[in-house]
Amino acid sequence: MINLETTYAGLKLKNPFIVSSSELTSNIKSIEEIERAGAGAIVLKSLFEEQIRNEAGQLTDFNDYHTEAYDYINTYVKDNSVDNYLNLIRQAKMAVDIPIIASINCMQEKDWTSFAKKIETAGADALELNIYTMAIDKTTEGYKYEEMYFEIIKEVQKTIKIPIIVKLGYYFTNLVYIVNRLSAMKVDGVVLFNRFFSPDIDINDFSIKPASIFTSPDDLRIPLRWMAIISSKVQQISLSASTGIHDAEAAIKMLLVGADTVQVCSVLYQKGIPYLSEIIKETEKWMGTKNYSSVSDFRGKMSYLNIDNPALFERAQFMKHFSSFE
Ligand SMILES: Cc1cc2nc3c(=O)[nH]c(=O)nc-3n(C[C@H](O)[C@H](O)[C@H](O)COP(=O)(O)O)c2cc1C
Repeated sequence: MINLETTYAGLKLKNPFIVSSSELTSNIKSIEEIERAGAGAIVLKSLFEEQIRNEAGQLTDFNDYHTEAYDYINTYVKDNSVDNYLNLIRQAKMAVDIPIIASINCMQEKDWTSFAKKIETAGADALELNIYTMAIDKTTEGYKYEEMYFEIIKEVQKTIKIPIIVKLGYYFTNLVYIVNRLSAMKVDGVVLFNRFFSPDIDINDFSIKPASIFTSPDDLRIPLRWMAIISSKVQQISLSASTGIHDAEAAIKMLLVGADTVQVCSVLYQKGIPYLSEIIKETEKWMGTKNYSSVSDFRGKMSYLNIDNPALFERAQFMKHFSSFE
């Protein structure tokens, strides 16, 4: 009998398969479909501070900027967007039995905290913080951007009691330090990694257009390496893998290198939500062939510390590998 139960950021999940934050998790119909496909948990679409600001901007005339009218409309639209999001949490909690993880994307400390409190009160089981800032100021040292992350998290921790999960990008000088610091701060979980909007250029009409928003299976490589290293070096924080998980094999690899949970998104856009049940079935089948009855039987078996030659996850070996090609 195969048992996929797992614990993630203090939440008991029936399995480690989570559908990550996107439009797929922004309405009740697909949230119900995701539960039917067998997901262990759902991360709702992020509430974006940027989006709230833009909505307010569209409703006001440029001349109104910073007038009382602008402030009023700004507050109205902001409350409305937040209200819609809180309704989504409440409805999702009524519609499905699996844990609902809310997600917020802000860039300013003060906005985080008020959203977070409301989200907790609406019934979210946990909160994923999607912190994002482009480090492009030529006079600001790197560590100052990192401090901003820690400050935001500290503020949110003061406000809510539900588990806090931080979804990171991989643009850090020392990711192990960052995750270790989050662990020391008693953050409950980390998602490795977020995928950001990337611009591309049309060479015919000279316009800027979005690069593909979906990942490919090859995108697994960076998260695989970092999951292997971080799961070995940092304890007492749950780890979730995101980016490039398109099938059961990729999910199994992530669990083997130490992920507690795996998140899927692009592949469900491409193959439909029911494909998740295939991924889960294939994982169970593989566990059967290896005589594993629970995830803990193999989780971390191939992490940095548990393989004979951990240097295989390091860059030096990577260079050596390439130098052998003619
Ligand atoms: C259309 C789309 C919308 C997304 N929206 C969000 C979002 O609101 N918040 C967030 O944290 N991640 C968002 N993501 C990122 C995904 O949650 C996920 O981390 C990323 O796509 C990598 O996983 P994948 O390889 O399974 O697609 C979005 C991704 C896509 C494709």
